[in-house]
Amino acid sequence: MRQRRRTARTPAKVNLSLRILGRRDDGYHELETVFQAIDLWDELDATESDRLTLRCDAAGLPVDGTNLVLRAARALQDRCGRDAGAEFFLRKSIPVGGGLGGGSADAAAALILLRELWSLTISDRELVEIAGGLGSDVPFFLTGGTALGAGRGERVEPLPFYGAVGILLGIPPFGIATPEVYARLRARLTPPGNDVRLRRFVTLKLPGGKDFSPGVNDLEAVVLEGWPELVAPLSFLRKEGAAFSLVSGSGSSVFGVFEDPGSLPQAAAKLRSKCPTWTWLETRAIEGRTHIVESPAGAMRGREGG
Ligand code: C5P
Repeated sequence: MRQRRRTARTPAKVNLSLRILGRRDDGYHELETVFQAIDLWDELDATESDRLTLRCDAAGLPVDGTNLVLRAARALQDRCGRDAGAEFFLRKSIPVGGGLGGGSADAAAALILLRELWSLTISDRELVEIAGGLGSDVPFFLTGGTALGAGRGERVEPLPFYGAVGILLGIPPFGIATPEVYARLRARLTPPGNDVRLRRFVTLKLPGGKDFSPGVNDLEAVVLEGWPELVAPLSFLRKEGAAFSLVSGSGSSVFGVFEDPGSLPQAAAKLRSKCPTWTWLETRAIEGRTHIVESPAGAMRGREGG
């Protein structure tokens, strides 16, 4: 029997701006954020199978039922009343625990792969709904590019592309768990009300009129208080020419936005010598999103396996 196989690529994100508007009664926080996809990709293969399994090339990443790839597959099975399976293989490039959305991106990849592999008649809208149930950031990866996230972050609207600016990404040798950051934030915020609005939303001015006024991340103060190692790299980025630098989401990564991507190699070299235990990645803002790759070579290998 021929085994069909598909591969999806899914990008990382940074938050160009993240405003916390208040606490919600369900334990989440109401926020408004500008998501930006960046040129750093995980790849997920899915091969038809009667079982649901996941393997990964990154040591230490849980590949049991808690992994968002398998949770995405189960959510689709439930929605469609199917007990079809798939064997997944995940090639990780997006650091884990970096605030770059890697787990959420992988979940989005699983959803679009399985819709095709299992020939499901499920609309984009339904897929977005399932994505939102899996995690607050997952729907963004179905839209990609530059987008506004509201609610928990799961209500996503595309924005005009911010522009192919250079993004220098600094990844410390430790990750930060998102729930921990929100728990620390919660301890600081006033008790929840039905309509608590701690701040008014101020978005970045977005292109055509490229505006590089600094973004804001309301989680940053909490992150820097708990993980002060991030303070110096943020200021080094600005010193090396970043228009602004921010913690991405709940950390642990930081990034600098460089209007001229050509200036990245020099800045990266400086940052590598100043913070040698960190990984510095030269990347850029992209318009792309999670997508299935047309890969004749991969398809052949899939057939051989069958
Ligand atoms: O939605 P997701 O599972 O990615 O969220 C992880 C955790 O981050 C939640 O359990 C919650 O503690 C926190 N969170 C939050 N408000 C949001 C998004 C996430 O409090 N808008």
